[in-house]
Amino acid sequence: MTEGLSSAAPAVVRLAEYTKTGQREILGDGADPFGVADTGLTWLPKDVHFGVRQRGRLVAHAGLVRLPMAIGGACAEVVGVGGVAVAPELRGRGLARLAVAAALDHARTMGPRHGLLFCRPTLVPLYRRLGWRALEQEVRVEQPDGPVIMPLWTLWTPLHDGARWPAGEIRVLSLPM
Ligand SMILES: CC(C)(COP(=O)(O)OP(=O)(O)OC[C@H]1O[C@@H](n2cnc3c(N)ncnc32)[C@H](O)[C@@H]1OP(=O)(O)O)[C@@H](O)C(=O)NCCC(=O)NCCS
Repeated sequence: MTEGLSSAAPAVVRLAEYTKTGQREILGDGADPFGVADTGLTWLPKDVHFGVRQRGRLVAHAGLVRLPMAIGGACAEVVGVGGVAVAPELRGRGLARLAVAAALDHARTMGPRHGLLFCRPTLVPLYRRLGWRALEQEVRVEQPDGPVIMPLWTLWTPLHDGARWPAGEIRVLSLPM
């Protein structure tokens, strides 16, 4: 049995809300729990949330938000995945896989053909393991003072059978998630 979790796979539920309090329950009070403060970026809140609770405490989260984009000059919408977080003492046990899978199951019902996420280089192998693919080109995102080039890695995953990433310049027409 996995220590601290029941032997049954933990249940992922859709959360009615996800606030700073929920994030603190998972990640604690650290100043930079996602390790991205040095980017100086302003982020978009997510608006659909999935989480895992253990004895009432939120221990994992993945969020979704619909993002307007221009890809190769054509307008498109993608589903942004963000705020992926697992309590430090429960990492390495598949909780991120579980929360992201539940979020993507929902994302497949939202319409867009692609999921998108941004992450630090050290997390690229983890997301590749979850089926995400890296975009090896610049991605512009909006910031309060205008567009900037995303300094983190950009990964995508198909939400519909046969979805490929379109060729051409990539712009997120909102804050990144
Ligand atoms: C990143 C984070 C969410 C991962 O959570 P986790 O519960 O430890 O991840 P999982 O156990 O579900 O691992 C997912 C998969 O990646 C694999 N994996 C983990 N680290 C890996 C690595 N360095 N290389 C390759 N695969 C890796 C795991 O083996 C697992 O695959 P498997 O299910 O086939 O065995 C967690 O470390 C965290 O909360 N970090 C702080 C917040 C953060 O940075 N979030 C990311 C925002 S993009």
